[in-house]
Amino acid sequence: MPAPPDISARDLLAFYAETGVDCALSDEPVNRLSDKAAADEQTPAKPPLFRNANPAPSRPAAKPEPAPDLAIASARELAPQAKSLDELRALLEKFDGCALKSTATRLVFADGNPQAKFMIVGEAPGRDEDIEGLPFVGASGKLLDLILAAVGFDRSKVYIANIIPWRPPGNRDPSPQETQICLPFIRRQIELVDPDVLVCLGKPSSQAVLELKDGIMKTRGKWHDYDTGTRKIRAMATFHPAYLLRQPIYKRLAWQDFRAVRKALSQTNAN
Ligand code: URA
Repeated sequence: MPAPPDISARDLLAFYAETGVDCALSDEPVNRLSDKAAADEQTPAKPPLFRNANPAPSRPAAKPEPAPDLAIASARELAPQAKSLDELRALLEKFDGCALKSTATRLVFADGNPQAKFMIVGEAPGRDEDIEGLPFVGASGKLLDLILAAVGFDRSKVYIANIIPWRPPGNRDPSPQETQICLPFIRRQIELVDPDVLVCLGKPSSQAVLELKDGIMKTRGKWHDYDTGTRKIRAMATFHPAYLLRQPIYKRLAWQDFRAVRKALSQTNAN
């Protein structure tokens, strides 16, 4: 049998990082190829009422999170109690209903101007956002800044947040439960910022916030009313910048959408 290759811990970590494995989920590694692991996977475990008994190493011990339906109910009860964005941020810092909090480095609440008349909602923070604690600071954020600049905006004129304020491990898609748990908080955030125009980036944001059923190709560029509970504001879905990085051909359409936003904002300012 050939000798195993001489791989250092550093090489192995570099390999993990390249393949997107960048956070530990339990104290002990699990060999999912072993016979025992295969047998364990075939024996369905009883669904626990409380998850996250195993907090990630080197993080403060997480409190057990309630089951998703309890967490959704608690988020719906808590979020409307925030009277200001600072109170909402403080509520989220204390909220233990979403498992993503225990794998993320920090809360990514918002960036930009809380008095802005233009608000943008993305999906969830990625690695760079998790490190800096600000939304859209990585590659897709750089493209978003360029798109905004092309229509005369920068972060002093926009307020930017995400549906999910904690990074999903390995940048996986947030689960429907995680989205439902976080939704009351972003809805309250929109209500507190009270913009004149709301833009949802990508399908997950437009489906969750604007409740649009179709894909982004069909829904983008059209105006909708978003009811904050206190008033209706103009809302539009457009492409997520991460998608535009992969499909630059659609940048032209995104630019059209942002020009329509600029026009709508100039009309509301003129009134
Ligand atoms: N993608 C998002 O949806 N939000 C971010 O903050 C970064 C990337």
